[in-house]
Amino acid sequence: MSDYKQRIEELRKLLNRYNYEYHTLDNPTVSDQEYDALMQELIMLESQYPEYKSPDSPSVRVGYVVLDKFEKVQHEVPMTSLSNAFNEGDLRLFDERVRDIYKDATYVCELKIDGLAANLRYDGGSLSLGATRGDGQIGENVTENIKTIKSVPLSIPYLFSLEVRGEVYMSKSSFEGANIQREKEGLEPFKNPRNAAAGSLRQLDSKIAAKRNLDMFVYMVVNPLTHGLISQTEALEFVKNLGFKVNPYYRECANIDEVLMFIEEIKHKRDTLPYEIDGIVIKVNDITKHELLGFTAKSPKWAIAYKFPAEEVITYIRSISFQVGRTGQVTPVANLDPVIVQGSTISRATLHNEDFVKDKDIRVNDAVVIRKAGDIIPEVVRVVFERRNGSEKPFEMIKYCPVCNAPLERKEGEAGVYCLNATCDAKKVETIIHFTSRKAMNIDGLGERIIEQLYQDKIIQSIPDLYRLSKHRMELKMREGFGEKSVQNLLDSIEASKKQPLEKLLFGLGIRHVGEKVSKVLAAIYHDIDSLIAATEEELVKIDEIGPIIARSIIRYFNDEKHRQMITELKNLGLNMTQPQKQIKTNETFQGKTFVLTGKLQYYKREQAKEIIESLGGKVTSSVSKKTDYVIAGEEAGSKLTKAKALGINTLTEQEFIEMLK
Ligand code: IVH
Repeated sequence: MSDYKQRIEELRKLLNRYNYEYHTLDNPTVSDQEYDALMQELIMLESQYPEYKSPDSPSVRVGYVVLDKFEKVQHEVPMTSLSNAFNEGDLRLFDERVRDIYKDATYVCELKIDGLAANLRYDGGSLSLGATRGDGQIGENVTENIKTIKSVPLSIPYLFSLEVRGEVYMSKSSFEGANIQREKEGLEPFKNPRNAAAGSLRQLDSKIAAKRNLDMFVYMVVNPLTHGLISQTEALEFVKNLGFKVNPYYRECANIDEVLMFIEEIKHKRDTLPYEIDGIVIKVNDITKHELLGFTAKSPKWAIAYKFPAEEVITYIRSISFQVGRTGQVTPVANLDPVIVQGSTISRATLHNEDFVKDKDIRVNDAVVIRKAGDIIPEVVRVVFERRNGSEKPFEMIKYCPVCNAPLERKEGEAGVYCLNATCDAKKVETIIHFTSRKAMNIDGLGERIIEQLYQDKIIQSIPDLYRLSKHRMELKMREGFGEKSVQNLLDSIEASKKQPLEKLLFGLGIRHVGEKVSKVLAAIYHDIDSLIAATEEELVKIDEIGPIIARSIIRYFNDEKHRQMITELKNLGLNMTQPQKQIKTNETFQGKTFVLTGKLQYYKREQAKEIIESLGGKVTSSVSKKTDYVIAGEEAGSKLTKAKALGINTLTEQEFIEMLK
């Protein structure tokens, strides 16, 4: 081995060790100067002898890659979020539900770090991929930026492929430091550490990301059982031993009372922690029980996030304006004296509708208590009547659309008023904004303001116009905030959106009452848009998640000639209108078997159970015959169960079905 190679290896070992001691153990053993000198030596040797460069050398942490855009990556296991608990009652309910299925459950409580989730993949012991959560299914490849996080090991002493997840965050002090720097540079300060972390992780220039001092706590192993990890505490210890940074404040709790005690303890510590937390995550410790406990559409039933109560702040309403939404609903919005709530400046808050304003007797010039609902949309909680001085002006709801002047109408039984003019500009703009949003077609690089401007300039008037935007490349490049690269990225993102599965397209169309979940169910059942268009109302209401209101709304949407024309136009522009079929993992017990589901299932929705059976190679039919292999009978099962018994067909309770899945 050459002397240089030997020295390079020695430097890497030393720097990795010092780095780990400083950033992960919080226990530095050398001075910053010494560390910097060794790093400089390594960088110099690697540039003189590029044949010895390596992607997991600590020198990559300074950030040397500048990307044009982030590549999209599909998560092998979706990155779901957690359902929330806001009080003791919610937590006790969660505990009861868990104990109904697994009566001896113990929990692990962890701090809910306020940053953004990331997935790290290691192959052969080296960090091979770092990705953001994205929409939970598809994230962005931010490996180069992840490598700049000093507490993330670039290599680990574990050669099997391993994926771990955790929270990338910015400490309170780095946040303050970053904002001082931004102010010096004349830049807008970051609103809060979470935004700062998210913005930094999505920096195309990793050198900039490196300067932001991001950090990461790892809180979970993906597919833990395949690594022999049968409890969450074991998983946390496992990743800690591999060199990851694990938050030290986790605790095993034998019951929900101990969980509540832990929450109280942390509430008192919260302000002294060097990073922001927004709650506590509670997880069932025994991982082997997770599958049995199952999932809802969005989140696991074996974990919950307790959110600390929202901070409440007093400010003044200076005026009330009106916003027209995608559905035509006109919402009053309070314009406030700007105040900081939970780290971000708030100057507007929704007033929902006329009844809300009248019930709370909210007036212009009132002092009001505001807080962030669900941490995002600020809302007015109540008026501080003691501060009234006579200058307050009572609220008047408008009668005409503020954008197109059409008379507003209030539908029976609804509090909202609507602009029913189908050609109202505001509705069209909002429809396009919704179509491009992350949970729908996920088109990057088109903010709300830009869409509004492009609409006003008549470049985009409808959804299909988005797919003709490449004709306006030159015009776009001339616009403020756009350059060669950003226009290309935008057009690439529009092109990529054509491949989105049917569920995203359906959600993006903005059919009333068809949210993310219903879109998913419809796409899973109908597979392509033409079959859905052909569906009848009677057929739709038979689906578990779909009631008469949703069914009628779907029928009404597709009966509208304009909508059908738009879909044809989108098809001609090359958009995918199908749902990829779930990969079938064959399973002996289910393969080729025919199931009938009857009665009320408690843990699974009918559609979920069907999806599971089909994903394991089984078939689900609606009526019992000699060809039926199993009847799964929920509560109040009736004639189908009787028939199954008469034919001597195997019948299963839902519990037995769940056992079978194991
Ligand atoms: S567990 C399926 N543990 O909170 C379990 N999440 O909605 C997934 N978070 O997106 C999450 N600290 O980004 C977990 N100790 C922790 C966490 C944590 C922060 C974030 C995470 C997730 C969100 C939950």
